Parts: sequence; structure tokens; C-alpha cells
Amino acid sequence: MALNASSPASTQDVLRLPISILPFLSQESTTWLYTTAALLSSMLILEQAVYRYKKRDLPGDTWTIPLIGKFVDSMHPSLENYMKQWNSGALSALSVFNIFIVMASTTEYSRKILNSPTYAEPCLVYSAKTILNPKNWVFLNGREHVEYRRVLNMLFTRKALGLYVDIQDRITRKHFASWVDKSDKPQAKPIMMIARFLNMDTSLRVFCGNHIPDHATQEISDKYWSITRALELVNFPFPLPGTKVYKAKQASKIAMDWLALAAKNSKIAMSNGAEPECLIDEWMRICMDPNYKGRKDFSDHEIALVVFSFLFASQDAMSSGLIYGFQHLADHPEVLAKVRSEQERVREGNFDASFTLEMLDSMPYLNAVVKESLRVRPPVTMVPYKVTKAFPIKDGYTVPTGSMVIPSFYPSLHDPEVYPEPDKFDPDRWLDANSSANANPKNYLVWGSGPHRCLGIEYASMNMALVLGIAAMMFDWEHELTSLSNDIEIIATLFPKDGCRMKLTPRTHS
Ligand code: HEM
Repeated sequence: MALNASSPASTQDVLRLPISILPFLSQESTTWLYTTAALLSSMLILEQAVYRYKKRDLPGDTWTIPLIGKFVDSMHPSLENYMKQWNSGALSALSVFNIFIVMASTTEYSRKILNSPTYAEPCLVYSAKTILNPKNWVFLNGREHVEYRRVLNMLFTRKALGLYVDIQDRITRKHFASWVDKSDKPQAKPIMMIARFLNMDTSLRVFCGNHIPDHATQEISDKYWSITRALELVNFPFPLPGTKVYKAKQASKIAMDWLALAAKNSKIAMSNGAEPECLIDEWMRICMDPNYKGRKDFSDHEIALVVFSFLFASQDAMSSGLIYGFQHLADHPEVLAKVRSEQERVREGNFDASFTLEMLDSMPYLNAVVKESLRVRPPVTMVPYKVTKAFPIKDGYTVPTGSMVIPSFYPSLHDPEVYPEPDKFDPDRWLDANSSANANPKNYLVWGSGPHRCLGIEYASMNMALVLGIAAMMFDWEHELTSLSNDIEIIATLFPKDGCRMKLTPRTHS
């Protein structure tokens, strides 16, 4: 239809309309209003144009929701939504709060991102720098990162792990004594929060020994929950009072004070000739060794930042791993029975003896259970990286500088070509040296890859094996299945939506 002067749809009338409905505005104000409206519309159009220019022919929404993009989806992340994104292409585009994101869903592209430090560096989640302190070593890159990491690697050698295993055993048994329901009518209870506290207590004692009091481990653990809640992939960007990031920042101050105290006390103990009893002690011992040529001048604050980064990296992922370990074993009694018979064989009936590294080496089945549980429900499904230099990720497409690029792990760990029946929990696939799982180690991205690959692999795997091994001996456990047991909640890492309800009763050995 042709537009004419009297048509209500005519451009002139539409433009005139606000004047008639806003008679109280002066001519000057309306000019200002129109200018603002014009500017805003231009910005919105520009936003779409920039998004489409960056996206080019990658799969993904053709338009982005103005300003917020997929922010609402990222507030309520779900595996289903991630699957849709992964299934849309090997590389696909989206935008959140004007951050342009390229998501990789294949092993090849994910590994390429993780192993291209020239183009991309981990940004963890966007809130991480605010919470962890921008000066934290985890934000170093290139040579500086490699050198710093070389020192920290010494804290996870077999010798150091041998020191930690005893602490892990002691703390686990102490917690388990309070987990067990000795009443006449035992009830199922969610184990999510108690497993979290177990992990936190264990890690704090492994890292800080007795250099902090008991109530500090409880306080740090409680406060850490607000840190975990602020670890969403994309969060409200400003730490304003009341936001999750603000609460996490407050919590981190309290934790940092305790960790700095542990560093100070450890330095005193080690210079007085005490034997190392924890990770910080071991670090100080190495620094005091006359044959050690590396850096020695770590301040209490710097040590605290490192331990804080370990807690940040560990407790959430390890809790997720452990809870699914319990759930998988309860749901597969035939696997749990094999774990028990291996425990009985290796322990020769001595169920109270503390775990040792040698014992763990003789438990291939338990190690396969841990590996498989982490594959089926990988705690970390993806790690966001930031593009620091235009990244030619494939022929004909370069990810622009400043974008986020996300290697995904879940699709590689559920690749049916490598893991037949990928959703099936089947530890045996790791026991056959010729299985496709063992023949394709590149798919096993549970710990990432490249220069930022997880530093705590041995410690975390050992802890999961130890906890599940002791639980298999001490408890009979029954999983109370609910309609939410198989639904996944993503709180940075994965958890069963019902908190994993278990009935734990004492087990008698025949
Ligand atoms: C089941 C438990 C755990 C899982 C699944 C896990 C997984 C991961 C993943 C996927 C990354 C990123 C790797 C990359 O960007 O390529 C990572 C990094 C890291 N993890 Fe773990 N992790 C776990 C436990 C731990 C523990 C217990 C520690 C304690 C020391 C730890 C310390 C770290 C550190 C320090 C980094 C950063 C390394 C760097 O930037 O150089 N993690 N972890």
C-alpha cells in the first residue's frame, strides 16, 4: 500500500506522534529525545551488524538479543542447551552481554584452542579475576606462567603426594564417622553438602596442615559456597553490593586472611626445623633446600593466593566428581562389588590400615572406576578462553581479538566412536589395553590440555579413589532415586539436581 499524508502509518505522523502525546515537553527537550532515540537505535543496529560481521558464516543465532544476548540462558545453564549449541556445529557463535563467543565442540578444535597460547589464554569465568585477584599466578601467561608453574609442580610430586595421602585418609574417616546413620530406621539424605565439606576440609588440611584452627576450615568452607555460586560462565559484570560476585569477593577476603596466617605459621615452623606436614610446609622446605636454585622469596600473601587458586580450582570440581562417583557406584552394584573385592584383596582384611600410594597402585579397578565416572559426568564441561590475538582457527575463519572462545570437553568424552555406548558407566573399557578408549587418549579432556592442563590431576584422582575405596569398605549405601536424580544442575560444575540422596549404613565385614 502506498503511503500518503493522511495515512496513520506515514513516517511524518509516526514521528509527530510523541509531540502530541507528550505536550509538556519543550521543543528543545523533544530534539534531545529524538537525538537520544536515534543514537540508541544506531547503537542497536551497530550491535547487530558487529555481531553478524564477527559471526560470518558460523552456525548460531542470526540476530542477538539487544545488549544482553544469551544472558538469560547463561543464568540458567543446562546441558540440553549446551548440547543444542554443540550440535549446531564444530564451531558455533553466540553473544552474551556483547561478549562475542565461539564455542568449539570437537576434540580437534578444543585441543587447538587449549594448545594455542599465542592466540588464547584462559579467562576461567568472567568474574574470576575479581574474585581471585588479578595478580594471582593463574592469570600469568607464556614464559612467566611456565616458570611459576614449574615451582608449583614440585608440590605434586610422588614424594609430596605420599605426605598428603595420610592426611586424606585421616580426614575422610573422621567425616565418614559422622555420615553414617546408626538409627533403627536409617533415612536417605542428600550428600552434596557433606561431600563438599569433606573435600574442603581435606584440601585445607592437605594444603595448610595444622597451621589454621578447626573453626577456620569450617568458616572458609561456608564462605566458599558464595564463591562457587559466583562462578557462572557469565555473571552480572559489576561487583555491586548484593550481587553474587560482591558476596564472593567478601568471602575471598576472609579465606585469604586465614591462608596468609597458614603461610606465616608454616614459615616459622620450617625455619625452626620442623618436618613438613602439609603442602605449604613442603613448599617452604623446598625453598630452604641449599640445592634448590629457583625463586625463594614468596610472601605470605603470594602463598595464600596460590593456595586460594588451588581451592578455587579444586573443591567444586572434586565435589562434583565425588558425588557422581557415589551415585555411579550405588546405581551399579555389580561395579561396587568388584571395588569391594579388590579392596579386600589388596588390604588382606586390614580395613583400618591407612591408604598408601603403593596400595592405590595395586587397585586398577578402583582407578578405572574414577576415570570412567569422570568421563561420564565430567565436572568441567568447558573452559572459557579469551582471544588475545586474532585467532585463525580454521581455513576461512579467524576469531576476532577480544572474543571468548570455549573448548568443550563433554562432546569429546561422549564420542560414540571412541566410547561405544557413551552414556554407559563401564569401568572395564579402561582395563582393556586395546580398547578404543585407551587408543584415543586425546579425547579424554577431563583435565584439559596444553600449558594450563590441571595441576592437581594426581591429587584429585588419588583423593576420589581413596574416598570411594574407604566408603566401599565402611558403608552399605543405597541411592534413593527421585525424579531429579538424573537431571543435571550446572553450578560451574555438574551436580545431580536432587543433591544425591543416599542411605548410608555401617557395613560389617565377614
Ligand atoms: C576432579 C577434579 C578436578 C577436575 C575435573 C579438574 C579439571 C581442570 C580443568 C579442566 C582445568 C583447565 C585446564 C585447561 O585449561 O586446559 C584445570 C586447571 C587447573 N586445576 Fe584442576 N581439576 C580438578 C581438581 C583440581 C585440584 C584438586 C587441584 C589442586 C591443586 C587443581 C588445580 C588446578 C589448577 C591450579 C589449574 C590451572 C592450571 C594452570 O593454569 O596452569 N585441580 N583443572
